[in-house]
Amino acid sequence: MEIGIVGAGTVGSVLAKTFARGDNQVMLSRHSGAASLAPRRSEFANNVTFVEVETALQQPLVVIAVPFGQAPAVLQQVANYQQRIVVDVTNQFTADFKKIKTAPLTGSEVLAQAANNARVIKAFNTIPPDFMDGHVDGPGRRVLFYAGDDAAAKKEFAALVKPLNFRPVNLGKLRHGGSVMQVGGGLGNTHFVQIDE
Ligand SMILES: NC(=O)c1ccc[n+]([C@@H]2O[C@H](COP(=O)([O-])OP(=O)(O)OC[C@H]3O[C@@H](n4cnc5c(N)ncnc54)[C@H](OP(=O)(O)O)[C@@H]3O)[C@@H](O)[C@H]2O)c1
Repeated sequence: MEIGIVGAGTVGSVLAKTFARGDNQVMLSRHSGAASLAPRRSEFANNVTFVEVETALQQPLVVIAVPFGQAPAVLQQVANYQQRIVVDVTNQFTADFKKIKTAPLTGSEVLAQAANNARVIKAFNTIPPDFMDGHVDGPGRRVLFYAGDDAAAKKEFAALVKPLNFRPVNLGKLRHGGSVMQVGGGLGNTHFVQIDE
């Protein structure tokens, strides 16, 4: 699958490597531009290319790995996502780690409003970057909670992450599933959860 990632910081970089382990073409981008990633070429496999943000945003699956406060403006650069999948990995923090409140909407619902006609999935935000590669100690799979309002998109997402050693666990829709996944919802730092199947 073609996957565009916006944000090449800690999370975007790890997820680029994770998705590159599968049968995917990964397009990594950052605010500072594609050329600024060139010195990091040797970090990534050949199926990771460096692109501008606008190219990453055009892929069938787009991962938003920027600070929450930047995410709506990033997403609004596309007028119509035409039912493409947007994966929200954000946590609702300011730069100095103060919680950003969005109630009654969850953070993912705010992003879904900004991403016109996208099918938004919340995932990965409950585990630290070191565990976003899917590794586990011993046998089993890394549990990956996810939420979304579109059943078909969630099926596609689950099929994408399963071969990467994740055990996707569907928590329902962006309102309720998203609320337990987001900051203060109770599922933060769930990297200790792995499962023998
Ligand atoms: N780090 C964690 O432990 C963790 C865990 C789970 C979830 N998250 C969430 O994942 C997201 C990314 O976190 P991070 O730790 O990877 O942050 P980070 O290291 O600070 O990286 C942020 C990235 O976003 C890019 N960016 C910022 N504004 C942008 C814009 N307007 N357009 C395009 N790109 C933009 C930056 O581009 P430049 O590089 O060019 O500045 C940078 O590459 C955040 O929402 C965070 O809450 C983080």
